Formats: sequence, structure tokens, C-alpha cells
Amino acid sequence: MKGIILAGGTGSRLWPLTKTVCKQLLPIYDKPLVYYPLSVLMLAGIREILMVTTPRDLEPFRSLFKDGAHLGLNISYEVQAEPQGIPQAFIIGEKFINQQPVCLILGDNIFYGEGFPAYLKNITALETGACLFGYYVKDPERYGVAELDSQGKVISIEEKPKQPKSHYAITGLYFYDKQVVDIAKDLKPSKRGELEISDVNTYYLNKNQLQLEILGRGLAWLDTGTHSSMQEASRFVEVIESRQGLKIACIEEIAYRMKYISLEQYIKLIEDYPQSEYRIYLEDILHREFKQVVSR
Ligand code: G1P
Repeated sequence: MKGIILAGGTGSRLWPLTKTVCKQLLPIYDKPLVYYPLSVLMLAGIREILMVTTPRDLEPFRSLFKDGAHLGLNISYEVQAEPQGIPQAFIIGEKFINQQPVCLILGDNIFYGEGFPAYLKNITALETGACLFGYYVKDPERYGVAELDSQGKVISIEEKPKQPKSHYAITGLYFYDKQVVDIAKDLKPSKRGELEISDVNTYYLNKNQLQLEILGRGLAWLDTGTHSSMQEASRFVEVIESRQGLKIACIEEIAYRMKYISLEQYIKLIEDYPQSEYRIYLEDILHREFKQVVSR
């Protein structure tokens, strides 16, 4: 399965923070926001990844991740010249998708919780239809919302409804079969002038090919849409990391633990990093688990 990270948009809600830097490169505690969705794809076993970003932000992303080989990934880049909605990522990424199933994750979505990676691995086997995730929130009107019947089956999906029919927001993590490119191409812009991901999802729903997995309350799906929710997400990460001494979304650690890179590659990677808390953590992992010490 292929993976796309959509890191476009104007970031207008976070202005002036986003005047020169895109939202997905802003920090969530100790690392750029985009590390979190990238780690979700990595944990799902997805290694061929396309980053879709704005012309302005292409170079910063490229210098951050290069071709991904140091992480055992294959990362490529495409530009979304004008933000015309989430499904545009499938049109831009048509060649990359190459008639295969694809997972799209929005570059500002953070997921955290025990068991989530194992869960995702099952879904990457998807060959037909779509799989989405629902999450109970107090303010569903800010999201795509799923209406459910008494059996928990999806009846409708609405984008940012004024009167939401449930509290289940649809998260920014989507799995689709190869049909998605043609579906995206046939979409008409909504009243707000954008192609809507909720219209893609409604298409699958009408074909009876939509699966919605409800994420339990033990999982965290964090929002980064406002200044205060970004601060909250940072605090959340800080609290967990300082309590456990383990990092969330540490992509080098994941690359090593998932065996995308060898121990030698991991050591080499760290040796090239400047002295920093981040490097010390990566060294500590080795020290704790293998009693290996990296030359300083
Ligand atoms: C987008 C989607 C929405 C989804 C949300 C998840 O909204 O349009 O359906 O629930 O992402 O993060 P946006 O964040 O672009 O307003």
C-alpha cells in the first residue's frame, strides 16, 4: 500500500505563525508536526510515501526528509499549487498511486495509543472499498461527521454540519482502494469552492463499500487546528514523553524498530546528528537495549 501525506493549505487559522513556515513544520513539543503523521504511516508498514505540499514549502520538506532512504523509506514530493481540497491529493498523486490502494493522512493529524499500529496493519490489507476512523469529540461541527444507525452502521457523512447528527468526527486518516483517483477526478467543488473528502467518502458509502472503525476513548486523536490546540498537543506529548522517557513519533527509532534500517545504519544516522536532546535520546535507546555506545 502507498501512503500520501497532505501538507498543503494556507495555514490561515494559525497566522502569523504560518506566514513563512507551513503548519506541518511547526513544533509539537520536540519535533515538527509532520513527524507524527509520518510515524503513523511507518508504523502501518507503509514505506512508499508521497508528500504533497505547497510550492513555498517544498524545499524545507525536501531538506527535512530527502528521499527517505536514511529511514528505510522511499519519499517523493509533489506540489499542490492552489489548495483546492483534500481529494486533490489523489489527482496530483495519480502516477505515484499507480492503480494501487492508498492511505492518505493529513499532515496535521496526531494519533497516539497502545495497539494502534497493530490495528493499522490489518487495514493495510484493504483491497476493495474505503476504511475511515471515527472518534467521539465534543465539537463535531468542526469535522466530517458520520451519522450511525443503532447497529453502528454509517448512514450519512456530512462535512462540517451546522447541526451534526452524531459526535463521531471522521479523522484525517483514510484508506482507499484504487478507485479513489477516478472518484476524485469526478468530484465537483462544494459551496466553499473545494473538493471535499466527505464527498469521496459518501461515494463509497453509496456503493456500500465504506467501513468505519471507531477509535476507542483510550486512543488519542489530537487536534492542531488552533493555537491553543497546538499547545495542548505539545503538552500531551511532553507529559507522556517525560513520564516514560520514551518518545512519541521518533521516526529514527521507528525505522530501526520496524527493521527498515539496520543497527549499523541507525548508528551512522545518529553520528551525523548534532548534539541535542534528540540525539541523546536516540543514543540512549541503544545504550538501554543493546549496551552499544555511539562515538561522540
Ligand atoms: C478535514 C476534513 C474533515 C476531517 C478533518 C480531520 O478538515 O475536511 O472531514 O474531519 O480534516 O482532521 P480540515 O481540518 O481541513 O478543516
